[in-house]
Amino acid sequence: MTNEPKRYLITSALPYANGPKHIGHLAGAYLPADVYVRYLRAQKRDVVYVCGSDEHGAAITIQAMKENTTPRAIVDKYHAMLKSNMADLGISFDIYHRTSEPIHHETAQEFFTALNNNGDLEQKETEQYYDEEAKTFLADRYIIGTCPVCSNDSAYGDQCEKCGTSLSPEQLINPRSTLSGNAPVKRATTHWYLPLNKHEDFLRKWILEDHKEDWKANVVGQCKGWIEGGLLPRAVTRDLEWGVKVPAPGGEGKVLYVWFDAPIGYISATKQWALDNDKDWKPYWQDKDTKLVHFIGKDNIVFHCIIFPVMLKLHGNILPENVPSNEFMNLEGDKMSTSRGWSIEMDDYINDFVKKENGGDQMVDALRYYLTNIAPETKDSEFTWKGFQEAVNSDIVGKFGNFVNRTFVLMHKLCNGKVPPFHTDIIDDIDSEMLDAIVKTKPVVENLIEGYKFRDALFEVIMLSDAANKYMQKKEPWIVAKQVGEDGKPTAEAQKIIDNCLHICLQTTANLAILINPFLPFAAKKLCNLMKVVDKMLDWENAGKTKLLSVGYSLRPPELLFRKIDDTEVAEQVEKLKIKSERLKMENSNAKENEKQAAENVEIAVKPEIQFDDFAKIDLKVGTILSAEKVEKADKLLKLEIDLGFEKRTIVSGIALHFDPVTIIGKQVTVVTNLAPRKMRGIESNGMILMAEDANGKLRFVNPDEAVANGSGVS
Ligand code: MF3
Ligand code: ZN
Repeated sequence: MTNEPKRYLITSALPYANGPKHIGHLAGAYLPADVYVRYLRAQKRDVVYVCGSDEHGAAITIQAMKENTTPRAIVDKYHAMLKSNMADLGISFDIYHRTSEPIHHETAQEFFTALNNNGDLEQKETEQYYDEEAKTFLADRYIIGTCPVCSNDSAYGDQCEKCGTSLSPEQLINPRSTLSGNAPVKRATTHWYLPLNKHEDFLRKWILEDHKEDWKANVVGQCKGWIEGGLLPRAVTRDLEWGVKVPAPGGEGKVLYVWFDAPIGYISATKQWALDNDKDWKPYWQDKDTKLVHFIGKDNIVFHCIIFPVMLKLHGNILPENVPSNEFMNLEGDKMSTSRGWSIEMDDYINDFVKKENGGDQMVDALRYYLTNIAPETKDSEFTWKGFQEAVNSDIVGKFGNFVNRTFVLMHKLCNGKVPPFHTDIIDDIDSEMLDAIVKTKPVVENLIEGYKFRDALFEVIMLSDAANKYMQKKEPWIVAKQVGEDGKPTAEAQKIIDNCLHICLQTTANLAILINPFLPFAAKKLCNLMKVVDKMLDWENAGKTKLLSVGYSLRPPELLFRKIDDTEVAEQVEKLKIKSERLKMENSNAKENEKQAAENVEIAVKPEIQFDDFAKIDLKVGTILSAEKVEKADKLLKLEIDLGFEKRTIVSGIALHFDPVTIIGKQVTVVTNLAPRKMRGIESNGMILMAEDANGKLRFVNPDEAVANGSGVS
């Protein structure tokens, strides 16, 4: 598209509502899209940004089995979590929809029917893996085996999560069912296929020629691999219960493949947005003047660049202009993974930093800053807590925040809290250079954002604040202010120099607010408030202007934009990560161990009979945990303060790997109060807390089903 598009439709990959999502996801598909969208909105372009929860597929049903509940309960729980997490992190969707909505089911079925009626799908009977014990076909994540590419022994039937390769169940070496663990057998079943092979010429031209230059090299590269490797018909239905029902004769007991219905979710979300806002959704998907951009992580490339475009083309929709895809973000030297506990969940970050007394929106911006700063735009990158601390402290506190703060402090001290006049008769080269930097930064940032180079764009903004700090340092208005006359005030000449410096610094501040707005929207808002201007000043067309704040206008007193991250916070987070991953390692290995034991039919140990008197010797009372802290140099121990009503006790308990201390404060527990005291790591423990342990080794407190007074007896 050479001309400016009439409208934009921006999408971020729909996250599976099967668990919390980590900050690697945020950095991959959500934050960059949000930056882009905020920039477009500031440009006053017509833009709609859609997303929502992906609520179908084995990812959901398998999680439901794990949590011993229904798929419905799973998607309800995690949809709510994801929706609020994204909002808390400033991701400004126009709609966050969900694929379990009826409007989505209808849209997906209509789409399938259109293709099917048009003869674009093929129906074929094939032999597929079947689990005889669970009496079900095994597709996608229901089957695991060894990856033929990297030898990972738990690759899924649709993808190896270790090396990222897309797979089909037939490619797995030693396939086994995730339901029964058995080796599957083959059985005949009929499915609908999308014959990708028939669209090879189109894909070749569209991607490898038309978009060879403007798409990222990693995206074109992956597509090239797929196309050259030979495209095959791809099944778009599955033998499953949970999902969008196949609306065709012979479709009973079958649903659409989740990767067929999920991207159509972008369309149904647009429809719902249009309904809610009294708009027409059609031009966004049908008019060639719409620029459609999909933001995704690299494991989604094939679906967004090959499969969905073929579907869109067949259905008569527009195609994406670009599919900016990110590589992965690693964490403290290892791959991020929620299931292994080696991750920072968005939810955890929000609880640990944003919803804290010294947190709030500035901590959202701090995360947005670091994630953009280390965005895996061209290669995998790495999040470290130390790196987070350094980036925040040195760039946004040290450069950006520091400049703004000095400007406001000096303006109040030396210019009566008002925008000082600008004296053109004394402009020197240093002033001109600074004014030039303001003007020049705008187009540079603009080009970088439009080229999806958000990291570099943000760098330019920070560099402008750095240049401004240096400018101030050269001008030294605080030194100039010492040239005083007889009245003890700066001389007229000195005041003119001071005025010019702070005038330029304030105009720079206004520009910084506009330029930082797509990246750190909360800081931009706060800046507007300090400058007493309305948000409209943030319109992109104002960037590069050097007369944004009028002379004589009085501004608010300084207020810090960001706080520093201290060493203890870093240490705490690193520790927390270790504990979490240890706990999951233990849980996972216990789960495996238990499977084995169950298989060997080991009986649960039952203790020998006792008399009532034996039992009555134990003094059990209910108490409340008042405080909990880790015992130094003892991984497993927590030191607890328990309120027993009649007294408070210290109890040392070996539960540190199971509970985050802050989360258990205030809980009621059952205490054995007459157990002889014991010293552990030099701390005297006066009692024991009752715990229930399930087959997976997971611990839970034993407590009354409703709160009772502390000290209540248990018998
Ligand atoms: N749920 C998928 C994932 O997490 C992404 C779906 S993107 C969509 O990998 F296009 F299908 F919506
Ligand atoms: Zn692999």
